[in-house]
This record gives sequence, C-alpha cells and structure tokens, in this order.
Amino acid sequence: MSVIKFINASDAKSLNWYLKYIGLPLSVGFIMYRLCSQVTNRKRRNALQGKVVVITGASSGIGEALAHVFYEYGCKVVLASRRRTELDRVKEDLLSKKIPSTEEPVVCELDLSNLEQLEPFVKKIYDTCGQIDILINNGGVSHRGSILHTTLEVDKKIMYTNYFGSVGLTKAVLPRMVEKKSGHVVFVSSVQGLIAIPDRSAYAASKHALQAFADSLRSEMYQHKIDVSVVSPGYVKTAVSLNALNGSGENHAVMDKSTAAGFTPEYVAMKILDMVVNKDKELVISQFLPNLAVFLRHSVPSLYFWVMARRANITN
Ligand SMILES: NC(=O)c1ccc[n+]([C@@H]2O[C@H](COP(=O)([O-])OP(=O)(O)OC[C@H]3O[C@@H](n4cnc5c(N)ncnc54)[C@H](OP(=O)(O)O)[C@@H]3O)[C@@H](O)[C@H]2O)c1
Repeated sequence: MSVIKFINASDAKSLNWYLKYIGLPLSVGFIMYRLCSQVTNRKRRNALQGKVVVITGASSGIGEALAHVFYEYGCKVVLASRRRTELDRVKEDLLSKKIPSTEEPVVCELDLSNLEQLEPFVKKIYDTCGQIDILINNGGVSHRGSILHTTLEVDKKIMYTNYFGSVGLTKAVLPRMVEKKSGHVVFVSSVQGLIAIPDRSAYAASKHALQAFADSLRSEMYQHKIDVSVVSPGYVKTAVSLNALNGSGENHAVMDKSTAAGFTPEYVAMKILDMVVNKDKELVISQFLPNLAVFLRHSVPSLYFWVMARRANITN
C-alpha cells in the first residue's frame, strides 16, 4: 500500500501548487541567502585577517562588541580603556571562543582624557604588535545636565575624553600610517554629532567637533591612501547613560528608557565592521525619530528649534 494511493487528484494538484509557488521560491531564496552570506563572510575575512585593530573603550558596550566581531574575523585586537579588570574579562571571553589562527588580544590601559598618555600608548602598541592597521576611536562619555547647571570642569572632561583623546591618538598613529601609505581611522561619533539636543551640550559639542575633525582629516589623508570613517549611532543599549556625567561630574547612574530600547551593541558592531570592510566614509545607524530630527535640523531649522525648545521646557 503506498501513500500515493491516499492522495487523490485534487490533493496532488494542490501539492504541486505549493511546491511550485512556495517551496521552490523559498528554497531558491534560502540558497541565494546562504551563497550571499558566504561571499560576504569571505570578503570580510580577506579584508581583515591578520590586521592589527586598536579599539578604545573596549571594556564595555559598543567597544566590547567591536572587539568580538573583529576578533572573530581574524584581527589581532588591542583592547584599550581605563578599567584593566574589565579589559581582562573581555580578553578571556575572546580567548574562550577558540578562533583558530587569530592572534591573542592585547590589553592596554589608557585614559583618553590624559593626553600625556597617548604617545607612549601608541609607541607601546607599535613595540608589541609592530603595526596598527585600524584605529577605532570609540571610547567616550556622555552628559546629562543643563548648561546653567554644568560646571566648566565637566565640559572640559567630556571634551578631553571624547574629542582631544581621539584626536591625540589619531595624531600619534598617523605618521606611521602615512609612511606605510595605508591605514584606516574610524570615529564612533553619534547622531548628536549631527544635531544637538537639550541637556547634552558637552556631549553634542564634543561629537560635532569630532565629525568636523574627521571631515578635514579625510580630505587631507586621501593623497596618503588612508581611509577615514565616521559612524553616528542613535540609541544603543549600553551603559552609556549610567556612565554619563551630570552637571557636577557625578555619574548619571540611570538607564534611560531610550537607551534601554536601543539597538544591540552587537548589531552596531557588525555594521561598523562592514563599514570598515567596504571603506564607507559615513554611516548613520539610527531610529526613525533621531533621523527625522537630523532631517528637520538641516531642512526646516525653525521647526527643529521650536521642538527642541519645547523639549528643554519639559526636561527642566
Ligand atoms: N550607547 C549609545 O546610545 C551611543 C549612541 C551614540 C554613540 N555612542 C558612542 O559610542 C561609544 C561607546 O559608548 P557605549 O555606548 O559603548 O557606552 P559605555 O558602555 O559606557 O562604554 C564607554 C567606553 O568608553 C570607555 N571610556 C570612557 N571614558 C574613558 C577614558 N577617559 N579613557 C578611556 N576610555 C574611556 C569606557 O571604558 P573605561 O570605563 O574602562 O575607561 C567604556 O569602555 C561612545 O563614544 C559613545 O559616545 C553611544
């Protein structure tokens, strides 16, 4: 007794229909998807295998996720930030992945706001790793507080960490990249490098400054074959709001709702990796509302100013 006997002519017709119009397109789609991801993965590996990537702010959030994806694609990652124990934890997590033919990560303490540390930090990496192929300026701190209630010390601290720290590190790395005629400098800015909102003055100013520096750098470095990329994320689910400084320089210590509902750092890190592989100059990874705000700021500024004034009124 075969099963075929139980399938009557109309069943066979509908089975045929399902195979033709659903099964076949699904299988073709799946095969295409697998082929595309294989090609993309090979492209990523070819571009990144063996590269030395310095990641600042690698002890948490986006930087930690960047360490994972670049390590997984064969890079020797240099993990830099202030908290040694957290960097060691990230290194252990990477090693536990047992990725074959990827060199052991290097851990290096660095306080971006201490500009004296930057040159010796870079020298130490060249002594240890012999080269720096990609510098990812990711380390940073945010701000929560009105201008009236934020001390100048806080403005300076945020500017030193987010702007001068990244600029100083870049300047320390550039001469050897220029000599080698290759290298890639990445800046993790923010949508707040494109628009400024109330209660974030120091942060938005530091990220705007970073964007401007990066644009000048990109044009100057073109002749030296050095790539410069800027990524501007919207909300990402990290400890950024917990670690943000309030007006008197203490930690904000609140997980903002918008941050908690943000993109995962893993998603953002993968986007940044592809930006590096494709040598894209700019990438905005943002939600609808921040994107709309950027559009309004540049196309209908008076409306943007009106909305922001209302927002400042609500938050104060
Ligand atoms: N999360 C978001 O919604 C969002 C959106 C747009 C842009 N960003 C940007 O993404 C970057 C990473 O932030 P995150 O979201 O991943 O926040 P996070 O989890 O708070 O990470 C910040 C990182 O920066 C490091 N850092 C802070 N001050 C430093 C200093 N003085 N010297 C060296 N490293 C320092 C921290 O390490 P140590 O404490 O160990 O030093 C930490 O690894 C920042 O530049 C931030 O502005 C974040």
